[in-house]
Amino acid sequence: MCGIVGYIGARQAAPILLAGLEKLEYRGYDSAGICVVAPEESKLSYAKCLGKIINLRTRTRDGTALPGGNGIGHTRWATHGTPSETNSHPHLSGDGRIALVHNGIIENYQELAARLRDAGYVFRSETDSETIVHLLEDYYDGNPVAALRRAAAELRGSFALGVLFADFPGRLYALRKASPLIIGMGEGENFIASDVPALLTHTRKIIRMQEGSVAELASDGIKLWDADGCAITPNPETIDWDANSAQKDGHAHYTIKEIHEQPYALRRTISPRLRGDEIDFGFTKISEQELRDCNCIYLLGCGSAYHVGMVGKYYLEKLCRVFAIPVLASEFRYAHPVVTEKTLTIVVSQSGETADAREAMHEAQRLGSKVISIVNVKGSAIAVESDEVIYTHAGPEIGVATTKAYNVQLNALLLFALYMARVRGTAEEIYIKEEIHALQTLPEKMESFLFDVTTAQFYASVYCGGKDIYFLGRNVDYALALEGSLKLKEISYIHSEAYAAGELKHGTLALMEEGTPVVAVCTYTPLLDKMISNIVQVKARGAKVLAIVREGETGLDFVADYVWRIPASFGFTQSALTILPMQLFAYYVALQLDREIDQPRNLAKSVTVE
Ligand code: M6R
Repeated sequence: MCGIVGYIGARQAAPILLAGLEKLEYRGYDSAGICVVAPEESKLSYAKCLGKIINLRTRTRDGTALPGGNGIGHTRWATHGTPSETNSHPHLSGDGRIALVHNGIIENYQELAARLRDAGYVFRSETDSETIVHLLEDYYDGNPVAALRRAAAELRGSFALGVLFADFPGRLYALRKASPLIIGMGEGENFIASDVPALLTHTRKIIRMQEGSVAELASDGIKLWDADGCAITPNPETIDWDANSAQKDGHAHYTIKEIHEQPYALRRTISPRLRGDEIDFGFTKISEQELRDCNCIYLLGCGSAYHVGMVGKYYLEKLCRVFAIPVLASEFRYAHPVVTEKTLTIVVSQSGETADAREAMHEAQRLGSKVISIVNVKGSAIAVESDEVIYTHAGPEIGVATTKAYNVQLNALLLFALYMARVRGTAEEIYIKEEIHALQTLPEKMESFLFDVTTAQFYASVYCGGKDIYFLGRNVDYALALEGSLKLKEISYIHSEAYAAGELKHGTLALMEEGTPVVAVCTYTPLLDKMISNIVQVKARGAKVLAIVREGETGLDFVADYVWRIPASFGFTQSALTILPMQLFAYYVALQLDREIDQPRNLAKSVTVE
């Protein structure tokens, strides 16, 4: 979603803002803009463009047309009003003395805008964001921080703001509520940004702004106030990954780079939690007794994170003998969920900022459930607000379509299920140990499979002409097929659906005809025979079937049109391998179709609106 950058220091701001915005392109956007305090006259000058940042580069002659050492920049992902130059940010107050960039949604903007219009403020755009700048102008009496605090108190929704006041040419202001915003600390210069990659070429020392906090940045210092207006001492952290982690490293796209990073990401996620065969999450707020007493687990997430919950249901129910209910986070909040003192909630989110997931988590907490989050971004809202957090260590994921983060979430959840099963005594110790050992050898198996992508390229060339592609599976393979299908949809734009193979005969079989492309996921051995029957049924109607099977499996050889063999692994650790061919398939189909793989149309990486 929208991206914010800001700079204050001795260098020219505009080129830094443009480069920072390019690093945030992965978030998804349709227009961009920058605003700089012109040094001599303390005047705000800005430029905005529809489309890519290259347009803004051209318009500002790579930033040289806007001189000044203090500025803000923005990439907009349209929510209120069409993608257009007028609707893009920055928005300026009527007198042109305040400029603002905003990420988030203002829920009560209509009533505020009506009031401001009555007071004589003239709106130029269709956005909710413009309301904020007029509100600031209304409250501004020479004290920017006071105006920001007053405005924030009236705004409902989510907002990360970067703000310039022409009266304060040596100050850059920021405010954060329910949308991510970080501060980068440099030598004689400081920054704001929506995410770390925008800052890495300048600094690795960052401050994650607290919920409701306000910041005043100068080139030589930072002042911070919490939501109650009390001064906060900055608590910087050092980012432990470098700029290279957020580069393509010779790959054509971030997405394929991130697919290949999965073994490394998995090692980094699993090994800190294992001491020999012991699993340790270091929980302090959820006791072992609570895990023993638990009789229901909600698994909440959106998109791929929801699919992780779909897979996790099979892990938790088998290993822990507990009801495990995956629910789309966007539905949970409005579904009157049954929560008792024995309910536990697990929220899965790569970004830790997804509005639907966060609101669902708040609802679970409000109803009395403790929450464990599985999150990739350190210090993100969901991580901070949950009772316990299991961090995944996938590193920065830039491709909008998640791959490595999804895979490590699966395995973090598996490790948790094994831990909980041991606490509850619901699985044989010998079985738990075998799963743990298999987890430890998974990265090598993943590496061996990912080493050669020619098979994936071949199947992609066979299937890329398909109009609708169906994915079938049973049990965990069904849950994994949901993710394989989503991957294909979002980066290739080919329509695709995943079905539980046993459901075919209850309706979907009607769609099968000569040449219908079907990917049959057949790695869940206990139900292999049933999958073979289902494949025979679709083949009888003319479907062209690509079966994904474990090495050593021969049952499909004379049934499917194509058989794609993947390494076998013990028990539930198979999932981490089963998803790989589907990720590669989606990637190479999209490549053949020349799609914008890293930033698919209409999608954003971090979805901070409901
Ligand atoms: O950051 P989150 O994991 O909370 O994001 C959830 C979904 O928006 C995300 O998984 C989305 O479905 C991806 N584009 C899938 O590739």
